[in-house]
Amino acid sequence: CAEQIQARRSVKKDWQAAWLLRAVTCIDLTTLSGDDTPSNVHRLCYKAKHPIREDLLRAVDMHDKGITTGAVCVYPARVADAVKALKDAGCNIPVASVATGFPAGQTSLITRLGEIKIAVEEGAREIDIVINRTLVLTGQWEGLYEEICQFRQTCGEAHMKTILGTGELGSLTNVYKASLVAMMAGKNVGFKPAGGIRSAKEALVWLSLMKEELGEEWLKPGLFRIGASTLLGDIERQIYHYVTGRYAAFHDLPMA
Ligand SMILES: *[C@@H]1O[C@H](CO)[C@@H](O)[C@H](O)[C@H]1NC(C)=O
Repeated sequence: CAEQIQARRSVKKDWQAAWLLRAVTCIDLTTLSGDDTPSNVHRLCYKAKHPIREDLLRAVDMHDKGITTGAVCVYPARVADAVKALKDAGCNIPVASVATGFPAGQTSLITRLGEIKIAVEEGAREIDIVINRTLVLTGQWEGLYEEICQFRQTCGEAHMKTILGTGELGSLTNVYKASLVAMMAGKNVGFKPAGGIRSAKEALVWLSLMKEELGEEWLKPGLFRIGASTLLGDIERQIYHYVTGRYAAFHDLPMA
């Protein structure tokens, strides 16, 4: 479906920068590495606050619009680092934490719930959960519903996103059913594609898809996010090209 839209729709040149900036505001700027440290998380937060070079934003008259990424996304152990870095920078970007034994979810329920609780206590305003795939693969939909409800409750005020891990659910029917169950357990539904979205072009295809299938509301960070680590760099390069007519060399966009 996304490929069809890509073939059908190309964003008009004049609007391209605006769409790219819209995509930026929907990015969950993510680092999920074993070697994450306070310093690389700090750097990520800086990038979240200054996603596009100031002079480029000025060139398209968007420098005073407060453009930031939608969130910063980290492991629970790095939430405090991210919260502190963003607070020190005087900036209100939410910190999202993966939890519930991301990515595999293979820890006991008590551990998974505890992980949510700690991340929220440390200041995460969004929690990205993973579901127990076995519940899906064996058709235990009620069990899945109850598990997600427990996660939801433990999140408290924090916004919960359910990671479906569609590659491990066996069939598209299961993806469909698991989505429905997650929606029933979570209410008020947004959408976050993640995994392998690296190019500005792909981001624009997703935005078109959301607009066509769901409407304008789903083009805003409240209901739409893109999980990505390297996408922002490509978007910044595209905007550089849009503004200057040249392709950026490495040293032109050192943070990308
Ligand atoms: C996932 O669900 C299955 C089926 O109910 C259960 O046997 C398994 O222990 C659960 N996994 C975890 C990590 O709790």
